[in-house]
Amino acid sequence: MTDITYRTSHLGSEKASSYNDDYDNSFLGYFWNQVEKPLLLDLLAEVFPTGLSNARHLDVACGTGRVLGAISELTSESHGVDISPDMLHFAELNAPKAQVRVADITDFREVEAYDLVSAFRFFLNAEQPLRDAALESIVAAMKPGAVFVTNIHASPASVIGMFRRVSKAMGRVADNTMRHEDFADFLTSAGLEIVASRTYGFVPLSTKISPSLMSPLCSLDNKLTSVLPSRSKFASDWLVAVRKPT
Ligand SMILES: C[S@@+](CC[C@H](N)C(=O)[O-])C[C@H]1O[C@@H](n2cnc3c(N)ncnc32)[C@H](O)[C@@H]1O
Repeated sequence: MTDITYRTSHLGSEKASSYNDDYDNSFLGYFWNQVEKPLLLDLLAEVFPTGLSNARHLDVACGTGRVLGAISELTSESHGVDISPDMLHFAELNAPKAQVRVADITDFREVEAYDLVSAFRFFLNAEQPLRDAALESIVAAMKPGAVFVTNIHASPASVIGMFRRVSKAMGRVADNTMRHEDFADFLTSAGLEIVASRTYGFVPLSTKISPSLMSPLCSLDNKLTSVLPSRSKFASDWLVAVRKPT
């Protein structure tokens, strides 16, 4: 049997098409546009109050270019790297202002080259040695004082986290969960300082949500984000900006 690791998990045109389609045609894409992307832009505005027009940006594990497309609209230069050529095929379409290339982030050798690095939906399901090696490459690629923006997208107490834990308890294959504080420890133990964060994702983030429920669920999520404490354990997602010391 072929050993599936996170490195090989998004190879192949079928996987890339279905990932891209989920963000084009299901609740995941609607939620990205209505909830996640506005929070990401708001967080970037907080951390870069004078804007990103002079910033060099790298999106690690950029996949189909969902996040790369949004950030590259703001920067002078954005680059995306991913190990999957099939995912990058869509990134070229979704992030036309960025330059993309195939690379394993753990082999990435650029040093102090970027003002902003991003990596979304990557650390949660990567194996621990891959997480550690990827973070090492990312920190090396950041200029002193640069910012790394990343997320973790299934806290154990969130709806999606509980679903995954029940699935695992029943012996089914399910993706990981991670507590926001464990992700915070992972980032700060690499010498990075937390400078801003947002929590969101209280509603079921499923591709099976019917179109009529999408708008009310996103409104509910935005409402809960505004009234519940930040870093609530019931939110699936924690979006965090960390700074490298100068
Ligand atoms: C869940 S996708 C996330 C894509 C995108 N960041 C997003 O949020 O939509 C994870 C991506 O990590 C990539 N990946 C896995 N291991 C990698 C590695 N060692 N170096 C670079 N990319 C890797 C996969 O090919 C896949 O495209």
